[in-house]
Amino acid sequence: MIRIQPKIRRVEPADAPGLARLAAETFFDTFNGTCAEEDMEGYLEATYSVERVRQELSNPDDMFFFAEVDGVPVGYIRMKEDDEGPPIMKKWKALECGRLYVKKEFHKTGVSQALMDFFMEHAEKNQYQVVWLSVWEFNFRAQRFYSKYGFVPSGHSHPFPIGNTPQTDIYLWKFMNGP
Ligand SMILES: CC(C)(COP(=O)(O)OP(=O)(O)OC[C@H]1O[C@@H](n2cnc3c(N)ncnc32)[C@H](O)[C@@H]1OP(=O)(O)O)[C@@H](O)C(=O)NCCC(=O)NCCS
Repeated sequence: MIRIQPKIRRVEPADAPGLARLAAETFFDTFNGTCAEEDMEGYLEATYSVERVRQELSNPDDMFFFAEVDGVPVGYIRMKEDDEGPPIMKKWKALECGRLYVKKEFHKTGVSQALMDFFMEHAEKNQYQVVWLSVWEFNFRAQRFYSKYGFVPSGHSHPFPIGNTPQTDIYLWKFMNGP
């Protein structure tokens, strides 16, 4: 198996067009076929417009990082100190992995691991008690990936509609000092 060691760097507001493009492409590749075409189009336009992405990038607490190979972004992760998951989350100092998307040509290359290792190191260094994320209930590849990092189902879920197509996401979590 090819192992790639990407460069991880913070995404800056000036990178908004590049992040918007990468985010839309990887979201499309992941969810195309799971919702109506017009729902996908509407979601991409609303969520990954350059203006919206630039606004998100200008929030210093909402952190995005690119994984770059030869200077080209091939994946990204979003992380934020956030207890907005299931209400019980408020009990702990919690770090959310808001998104983790890697271009399909770079799956199984170690790029995803580099991003997730980076996230875990940040969580350890900053003494978070719990890390968490939400994932589509039928995204078994991502769930398998997260399970390799010790994420387990929290027992909580929430609706994550794409336009008018209803979908359900489940919350996974991992307690940094064990259960
Ligand atoms: C999720 C993602 C980051 C994982 O990265 P990756 O490089 O594909 O991860 P890996 O190959 O190390 O691990 C995937 C695991 O899922 C397994 N897998 C692949 N397809 C699967 C499927 N349909 N069902 C169950 N497991 C599956 C693989 O065999 C592998 O497990 P293994 O190491 O035990 O063999 C990457 O696939 C990705 O960016 N996907 C699209 C975006 C996405 O779904 N993001 C998550 C949103 S919450």
